[in-house]
Amino acid sequence: ICDVNPYVYRFDCHPEYYSSPSRCNNRGCCWRDTLSSSSSSINDDSINTIVNNDGKSSSKIGRPYCYFPVNYPSYKVTQWAETNYGYRAVLIKEASSPWPNDILNLTLYIWFQSQTVLHFKIVDSKNARYEVPIEMPKPPAVKPSTTDYSVEYFSSPFGLKVLRKSTGATLFNSIISTAPLIYADQFLQISTLLDSPWLYGLGENYGPLLIDATQYRKFTFWARDQIPIMHSNLYGAHPFYMNIEKSKEAHGVFFLNSNAMEVDVQPAPALTFRTIGGVLDFYIFTGPTLENVVQQYVQTIGIPAMPPFWGLGFHLCRWKYNNIDRLKTIIKRNKDIGIPYDVQWSDIDYMENEKLWTYDKVNYNGLPQLIDQLHKDTMKYIIILDPGISDKYPGRYPPYDRGVQQNVFIRNYTGHILQGQVWPGPTVYPDFTHPNATSWWLKDAEDFHKVLPYDGLWIDMNEPSNFVSGSSVGCTMNNLDRPPFVPAISGDGTLEFKTLCGSARQHVSTHYNLHNMYGLHEAMATHEVLLKIMKKRSLSVSRSTFPSHGKYGQHWTGDVRATWTDLYYSIPGLLNFQMFGIPFVGADVCGFSGNSNEELCIRWTQLGAFYPFMRNHNDGDSIDQDPGAWGTSAQKIMKEAIELRYSLLPFMYTQFYLNQLDGSPVIRPLSFAFQADVETYKIDKQFLWGSSLLISPILERGKFNLTAYFPSGGWYDVFNHFKLTSVGRYYYLNTPLNKINLHLREGNIIPWQQSAVTTAKSRKNAINLMAGLDTKQAATGQLFWDDGDSLDTIGKKLYTLIKFTASRGTLYGKVQLKGYRPVDELRLGSIAILGVDRKPTTLLLNNKTKEFQWRDDVNEIFITNANVTLLEEFTTVWI
Ligand code: NOJ
Repeated sequence: ICDVNPYVYRFDCHPEYYSSPSRCNNRGCCWRDTLSSSSSSINDDSINTIVNNDGKSSSKIGRPYCYFPVNYPSYKVTQWAETNYGYRAVLIKEASSPWPNDILNLTLYIWFQSQTVLHFKIVDSKNARYEVPIEMPKPPAVKPSTTDYSVEYFSSPFGLKVLRKSTGATLFNSIISTAPLIYADQFLQISTLLDSPWLYGLGENYGPLLIDATQYRKFTFWARDQIPIMHSNLYGAHPFYMNIEKSKEAHGVFFLNSNAMEVDVQPAPALTFRTIGGVLDFYIFTGPTLENVVQQYVQTIGIPAMPPFWGLGFHLCRWKYNNIDRLKTIIKRNKDIGIPYDVQWSDIDYMENEKLWTYDKVNYNGLPQLIDQLHKDTMKYIIILDPGISDKYPGRYPPYDRGVQQNVFIRNYTGHILQGQVWPGPTVYPDFTHPNATSWWLKDAEDFHKVLPYDGLWIDMNEPSNFVSGSSVGCTMNNLDRPPFVPAISGDGTLEFKTLCGSARQHVSTHYNLHNMYGLHEAMATHEVLLKIMKKRSLSVSRSTFPSHGKYGQHWTGDVRATWTDLYYSIPGLLNFQMFGIPFVGADVCGFSGNSNEELCIRWTQLGAFYPFMRNHNDGDSIDQDPGAWGTSAQKIMKEAIELRYSLLPFMYTQFYLNQLDGSPVIRPLSFAFQADVETYKIDKQFLWGSSLLISPILERGKFNLTAYFPSGGWYDVFNHFKLTSVGRYYYLNTPLNKINLHLREGNIIPWQQSAVTTAKSRKNAINLMAGLDTKQAATGQLFWDDGDSLDTIGKKLYTLIKFTASRGTLYGKVQLKGYRPVDELRLGSIAILGVDRKPTTLLLNNKTKEFQWRDDVNEIFITNANVTLLEEFTTVWI
């Protein structure tokens, strides 16, 4: 029973660090520290280590020495019933496993949620357990008439298999003789075979986009104030993955569980979910395209909030401007050189002694007037908030006093308000699940808005971060603080490291259960507060996130370093959040920690110009890195990059509209648009805006050329308009310091505008079109336009949507909906039609002859200024 294929069927029976033959034996498992069969390409030493903050390793990941034997005691199906909604089954186990408080009677529910979504849940038959308190679609009363999946099970030991009907591909398969289901109170584990080793997701993590399941890897989920590094739990928890099947279709699996968790990936290929609480609650999405999987997942957890148009502008921030003169100088020097610039931010140094809802009236004397001036200049202003409330000034600090009165602070095990430590020193933490919390948060937010009229909020440190572990008096030794098993999280091996005690009490449940959702709950409250105050769309940009966060707020990837490596990993980081339903995401441009340098900052600004959220932000002690801080030639290149971004915002904004309709990502990995091309699966140094603009940045120092992958088809260089017709391979691109490679995929039309110093101004410019014709002389595109910040313009139909079509000698625009009529906006400016098959003799615009230019080298028609309204149909015909 121990003689199992070491690569495929060894599932870890002792995931804790200190495994030994005797500990393994006590669990009734098998111990082999050598390979019993040798022919394999996997290196026996392919063991990754989890590295602690102190540099010591705390956990190893690799082929387990201690593994489950065949027929380890597990559950047996004693009833299996078909129901109107799917199936219900009873699972019974005779004897307890070695994990304490094993639950022997379980019920399995399988809901056929829709044709493409299956939902199954395994619960304790006798006692209710904690379940994640987020809004999910109601289980259906009856199943849909047809499904893309089918379900099978194995009775003893219990295993569940979900297959794709059309191909038989594995969507989920826990029928593995050496991977028993374990369901103890604080140790729940289920494994599944994967259809192929091509895996995406499992965040928040730092690393390449493609998770290679021919190797061992461990992903940990426990929100932590942790500089993004590999093999470490980071700020957010998203237990969602996508698997591209051998047949190149794709599916996704979401594990709805908020407890501390780890996921082992192993070369079977298989993965194991191991969590320390809650229930086993899974959603399977059948795709079959990667894009469909994301749409199905996002529609299940919630469509993201539509950002305001100004949010797509350039944002500038740093920690420790330290005083208003410095802040003014920096604003001025960037405006003086004409950097397009929409939003100025303030980090914690604007506060008085780092107290929330205050500003430093000495060092920041005149801040309200400065904000008024920003507003006059059509700019916006965002302030940071940390959840920790200072308790140093009882009786004199209303946010604290009212919080105590209204009982909104998290309490420790003994029922006293839990005290930790953040920037202001001793602090207490709001419990955003408390029914009084949102109105308490609103009161200060409203009052403070009258003092400092901010336009958005930045919610930082909400893992929550704590400079003393647990609380100022430590934690208990009970099973919430010292659970029988702790996933391989970074730190000192305790849950409370740099955060609160698991035993701390929140209104809805214990912090042990709710920790991973702290950022989400804060975002929910903040979103509501902003709606009430602004009555418009706003931004609440959060560091910690959990599934469904996108409905309430946005995200940035935290304390990335000013290094070339972090520049690169920002791309997979942002692409992951597209899959997690938080499309408005960015990394700190030029890097957060450490000193940036001119070349890095140039390349980062060029790449950042294509982040959905572009903010240059840095650490308190690093050198200045705002565009105005660098030499004149660097300034010029940065300005050009940001101008390029501004000019493309009509296209980007339209991607956000499309995201509203079905959850589609705003930016995409190449694989999403070219799923049949296996070469694209691992590409994470290039990406797409929508599915038509390809961005190929330089990510290395001293490099001025690139070999970039072009999926098969035609690609127009957006700058020189030359067409590259790819056979699906890498091409050499000359990329001097002032260049970022940008290609328009044939068959697409993109709307763009001349840039201006703010989006309020650029939005007034005419809309230009660039059409890249395909080999059939056809292309399509669209433009979504509304006032940029009103609520629910889509639901209320207060927007204008124009579809553009080019086809055999014509290009026309058709207004689909005219719900927004700007006074002086939406004229059609220039039109560039690329890849025209022959030089026309005549061109008619709305039936009148129109002058045009012809470029023979690229076969392009160019109309300098069409000068017609876009709110009516227009037609261009060339003969
Ligand atoms: C941590 C955040 O990640 C960082 O962006 C911020 O500057 C500091 N906190 C100070 O507020």
